[in-house]
Amino acid sequence: MMFGKKKTASSALVPPVRLGVNIDHVATLRNARGGAHPDPVRAAHEAVRGGADGITAHLREDRRHIRDEDLVRLRRELSVPLNMEMAATEEMVSLAETLRPHACCIVPERREEVTTEGGLDVAGSQAQLLTYITRVKNAGIRVSLFIDPDPVQIRAAAAVGASVVELHTGAWAAGADGEMERLKEAARLAAELGLEVHAGHGLSFGNVAPVAALPQIRELNIGHFLIGEAVFDGLAPVVARMKTLMGAARRK
Ligand code: PXP
Repeated sequence: MMFGKKKTASSALVPPVRLGVNIDHVATLRNARGGAHPDPVRAAHEAVRGGADGITAHLREDRRHIRDEDLVRLRRELSVPLNMEMAATEEMVSLAETLRPHACCIVPERREEVTTEGGLDVAGSQAQLLTYITRVKNAGIRVSLFIDPDPVQIRAAAAVGASVVELHTGAWAAGADGEMERLKEAARLAAELGLEVHAGHGLSFGNVAPVAALPQIRELNIGHFLIGEAVFDGLAPVVARMKTLMGAARRK
């Protein structure tokens, strides 16, 4: 039996939005003491228990949080898709070819940054990206490019053969003027070009709804807020609440 409002034809057409939980910050905490606790793989299982549709982990060049062996364990143990975030480098592409995660999200990376600060300049590095993207795709891995909501970058992402673009929501989260309009336009254009649209960075209970409501968006990747909030309420309940908020925004 269905309770509440009857589904309208248009809401029935909007597919659900998946939640990928980024567990990097559990590894940050573990590494602060150099031991094995807290275990990011255990956190991944907790996130899945709370309803995560996928797990995201960023293997940084300096291994400041996730380590190679974490990814090996995640790949072996997870029942949901693993999304490996990584820079476009020979080392990372070779690791991805061996590990074969469900997806690779290519991000820009600078050693000195605290987190991924801006989107990838796809338009400015098409030739180099094309080589790496082709190798990752040939390994049977979906390729996603983390970009700003900028039409130039979206067109370039389609041109280099990405399957997915992940739109950087950091500026939206920081309250920048006109950012929701940019995200809307970007999501529309990306979908028109045949790209699957994901989004993430800086999302929280307070700002997720307008992003989750964008009909072209199929997946959100959220980390820092969920791991921080888990300190107070536990990871599985926090993930479950995020999924509820995303679902409610989608149905509106
Ligand atoms: N998506 C990408 C590509 C990222 O680099 C990050 C940060 O690691 C996230 C999503 C998650 O951002 P946050 O930790 O702010 O939720």
